[in-house]
Amino acid sequence: MLLTPITGTFGAELSGERVADGIDGAWLSRQLVDHRLLVLRDQHLTHAQQVQLARELGEPTPAHPVVPGHPDHPEILVLDGAQGGRNARWHTDVTFMPAPPAASVLVGDVMPAFGGDTMWADTRTAYERLSPAVQAAIDTLEAVHRISPLAYWGEPFDTALGRDDAQRLFDDAAKVPPVIHPVVRVHPVTGRKNLFVNPGFTTHIVGMSRIESDGLLRLLYEHATQPELVLRHRWRAGDVVIWDNRATMHYAVDDYGAAQRCMRRVTIRGTTPVGPSGAESRLVTDPLVSVR
Ligand code: OGA
Ligand code: MN
Repeated sequence: MLLTPITGTFGAELSGERVADGIDGAWLSRQLVDHRLLVLRDQHLTHAQQVQLARELGEPTPAHPVVPGHPDHPEILVLDGAQGGRNARWHTDVTFMPAPPAASVLVGDVMPAFGGDTMWADTRTAYERLSPAVQAAIDTLEAVHRISPLAYWGEPFDTALGRDDAQRLFDDAAKVPPVIHPVVRVHPVTGRKNLFVNPGFTTHIVGMSRIESDGLLRLLYEHATQPELVLRHRWRAGDVVIWDNRATMHYAVDDYGAAQRCMRRVTIRGTTPVGPSGAESRLVTDPLVSVR
């Protein structure tokens, strides 16, 4: 397979093979960790082939902790723009759980004639390009993450969903307990440090006032999403994009109006995040820590 880098820091396009014909999973996993994101154009995978590709990289999870999966493929989460599946917010997948997915495999099924790109940010390079003083300041910090239905369905979410579906989603999301993750995550394969906060799910930094936490998070997000650290994929129906969810965040650009856009995702089970000092992610047990 031919590997062509996409940006100066991360992402590579793989060409020359149909992955449905079989691929060396160990090799693919290594490329994914090296490049953080792999684009495979024009693959036109069936649902079963998508799940099979995900299996080459690890163990597929159920589609989502709250949102129901595809009726015939419980690992597949369908994201239909017409059903509110727009994700127009920087986020890393499922960081509201104690062990978020290691990677995601996204297929574009129906793409609009224009618009509907996805952007990814390289959170490893983002960490490495912080000044040593800021790196040292955040290395020992922890942050609370929790699911918000707004992260999926936009604001206000009851305009994209029926009133009852919106209420059910809101109630289910409210039952998911908040978690604490290190702000800086040591990648379990490379040992490199990555920024591990995201606007989709991080509510605040533990032990800081609202002003301190909001200000510091805004700095980190602005830093991580500067154009030099962002890759933008212009989809063609049939493309597959695989990303390392431990070293990136992403944003689905919602500029396609009422045009059809339909994606499907499989996530691969991940390990419990660990910070530079060895602190591990955990559920929040002290309710005072999660108040925001
Ligand atoms: C996802 C996601 C982005 C997109 O599948 O997790 O955020 O462009 N998708 O649909
Ligand atoms: Mn996502």
